[in-house]
Amino acid sequence: MEEELINTKNTALSFILEAKGERELEEIRLQFLGKSGKLTLTIKGIAKLPIEKRPEIGVLANDVKKQIEDALGRKLEELLSQTTINCDIDQTDPGIPSPIGHLHPTTQVLNETIDIFKTIGFQVADGPEIETDYYNFEALNIPKDHPSRDTQQTLFLDTRNTNITPGEIILRTQTSAMQGRIMEKIKPPLRVIVPGKVYRYEQVDASHGFEFWQLEGFMIDKNVTLTDLFGTLTYFLKQLFGEDTKVRFTCHNFPFVEPGVEAYMSCSVCKGKGCGFCKKTGWVEVLGAGMIHPNVLKTAKIDPKEWQGFAFGTGFSRIIALTYQINDLRTLTNPDVRVLKQF
Ligand code: DAH
Repeated sequence: MEEELINTKNTALSFILEAKGERELEEIRLQFLGKSGKLTLTIKGIAKLPIEKRPEIGVLANDVKKQIEDALGRKLEELLSQTTINCDIDQTDPGIPSPIGHLHPTTQVLNETIDIFKTIGFQVADGPEIETDYYNFEALNIPKDHPSRDTQQTLFLDTRNTNITPGEIILRTQTSAMQGRIMEKIKPPLRVIVPGKVYRYEQVDASHGFEFWQLEGFMIDKNVTLTDLFGTLTYFLKQLFGEDTKVRFTCHNFPFVEPGVEAYMSCSVCKGKGCGFCKKTGWVEVLGAGMIHPNVLKTAKIDPKEWQGFAFGTGFSRIIALTYQINDLRTLTNPDVRVLKQF
């Protein structure tokens, strides 16, 4: 029995020394110390020995067990500290497939919108989100004391330790701010859309955000009329939401257009029947638009007698919400993949 114990110990220790990975080490543990392991069975056999032999063999057996356990522990630590890939990897195991992502719903609708406008000759422009009061307001026929500034919930940048006049640098509240910038640089005739983020000091709820997407568009050419505007917007909305979409226009005032209109489309959620999304009216307001005010053209040194234009601006986040029938705009800024996977 004594010899058997010594042999078991030596075999176990040499196996442990050679072990190449955690799995192999665990097999060795089971082989010797498991329920029907070699050492376990030997220890069970002690009960059958003559009574006077038992204490001595018992002590030896415990010592062997402890030595094997210690060796297993040391080897495990050694294996875990190894940085090299060990040979314990089963290379035939199928891998865990990486989930494949997709474009964010905002990007998907934006790409579709850009494609629609490109087919009718519009180019795409991008501009700064940190904007001057001049382009966001003044150049759009909104002087400092104009009451419509109140509706714009403007966020101002702190310019106290600079030589910039306080209030002159803001986060743009509308992508219309790009009208002046573009008109100064590109000579008419021109057709441009400007998708981008805008910022307003708004209480965040299901239908308002302090940061949201707009899409501005405008065209300047000779003999442009209000019906060109109606045609372009109806074409866009029908392309995006389907041929059966109905569009209607109502009068509205915006300082940078004359006349100004608002565009409504039949609710894409209930197909115009009336639901919670359209507040049971069957119509959703999607755009502000109008014929570019002569003052805006003059400010950009474009002669309003020679050139006319139309402009429009959508709350693009709302267009996205309507496309996917999302009833809470916050869904679009939720980074949770379980939410995003649905679109
Ligand atoms: N910029 C306006 C807003 O944020 C939307 C708008 C209205 C844009 C009329 C236009 C326009 O170009 O003609 O509320």
